[in-house]
Amino acid sequence: MSGPCHFVVFGALGHLVTTKLLPSLYHLELAGRLDEALGFVAFARRDWDTLRWRVHLNDVLAEQYGANLDKAAARRFVQRFEYVKGDYTNPAAYQHLLEQINTPRPGRCESVVFYLAIPPDDFIQVVRNLDEAGLNSVVGQHRIVVEKPFGTNLSSARALNAELHRHYREEQVFRIDHYLGKETVQNLLVFRFANSIIEPLWNRHYIDHVQITAAEESGIGERAGYFDHSGTLRDMVQSHLLQVLTLVAMEAPASLDADALRDEKVKVLRSIRKIPVDSLDDVALRAQYGAGEVNGAAVAAYRDEPGVPNDSNTESYAAIKFHVDNWRWQGVPFYLRSGKRLAARRTMVAIRFREPPHQLFCDTPCESMDPNWLVFAIQPEESIRFELYAREPGLSMTPRLLRIDTNYRAEHEQRLNAYATLLLDVIEGDRSLFIRFDEVEMAWQVIEPILEHWSQTSERLYTYAPGSWGPKETRVLFEKPNQSWRNEP
Ligand code: BG6
Repeated sequence: MSGPCHFVVFGALGHLVTTKLLPSLYHLELAGRLDEALGFVAFARRDWDTLRWRVHLNDVLAEQYGANLDKAAARRFVQRFEYVKGDYTNPAAYQHLLEQINTPRPGRCESVVFYLAIPPDDFIQVVRNLDEAGLNSVVGQHRIVVEKPFGTNLSSARALNAELHRHYREEQVFRIDHYLGKETVQNLLVFRFANSIIEPLWNRHYIDHVQITAAEESGIGERAGYFDHSGTLRDMVQSHLLQVLTLVAMEAPASLDADALRDEKVKVLRSIRKIPVDSLDDVALRAQYGAGEVNGAAVAAYRDEPGVPNDSNTESYAAIKFHVDNWRWQGVPFYLRSGKRLAARRTMVAIRFREPPHQLFCDTPCESMDPNWLVFAIQPEESIRFELYAREPGLSMTPRLLRIDTNYRAEHEQRLNAYATLLLDVIEGDRSLFIRFDEVEMAWQVIEPILEHWSQTSERLYTYAPGSWGPKETRVLFEKPNQSWRNEP
């Protein structure tokens, strides 16, 4: 099958396109992964022409890659672009797009990718306009890529999906969650299913609990318009963190085929225990950062950020305990947390194993013996760390903690932006790392009771100091006295 002829970027001058999409597409050019036939169309409102856009693109690449920019690859890449000026909410603007798409490309190609890097409220309008302009043709297998958030709750996600399906078949829809493009996240699958020694340990008999953390040092910056309507639960937990949870908890798929993989992920989401309303406050906590200092500089409280109403109840931090009610995970809590303005940028999955059934070393200082941990550091550090005990050399039988650490990337191996992998998959038509609608639906079902509960009250909205690890109140989540957050990979 030939690849697409055109890749149209809606919202081409937006932050996401500038910081993630363009550098990742350039990377694919550099790696020789873009077919000669593929052309890009930048679609945006600004009164520019192709020449002006190409100057902008050169600037973006120079800023991102500096002296490491490969001039020949950059030239090839920039030449692939045409700029179409237009307001995507206006059906008339699509005629220019149509003309561009009808321009023949060299080589064999047959479809168009539409990448919607636009506010979610505009998705439906754009899909309708594409349809009206005759640009949703299924004959050439056009593809449509939508960024998260997919809806703002279960019913809006369903409405959006129904509208998408009026114009596109499911095989044409690519719902992005960029966490699935991260190599360390994909590594969870390889680590679990390519190593036969792991499987016997990967269950409630050996695992005490699982922690999934996505901590950010930065605040919400200029994104109040989006973030204050979203909050951390929608922005991070419903999508990224629940996706990571599915990869930790899923059964082995029969193959890496897109549907086999997603069938197993959705089973995990279906098994997440429904939280009774009267215990929501014990298993789901939220907070906002207060004012303070980070790295010696004063930072504003969440409510004082530009664009945030000073009575906002939107959470910049959320911590939740889930249980996966199935044979493998019965009784094993999954603690998830995410927040902005925390002590460090750190995304990781930490698996804590059970204590040995009988403590043999208790005459030694073994009160301080933490059970074994296996930690997947996702970013910024990328490593797999296993903590085991061995005897400390000397005259006494004292256990000493050993850290078996693998930074799985060799020094010469380049770190890829998560988007590069996902964009290549879109171009090649592989949907394994994209979210199927039943996953979206289940993820909304899982968090909706919490969303509803939080929207009905301003009580128990905690405050945490910027630069800290979040509110101390989250300790109520832990089921045993020896459980607590692990902050270091
Ligand atoms: C995005 C959220 O999906 O992920 C942002 O909207 C968040 O609020 C970002 O900052 C985090 O992504 P990463 O790749 O930096 O962990």
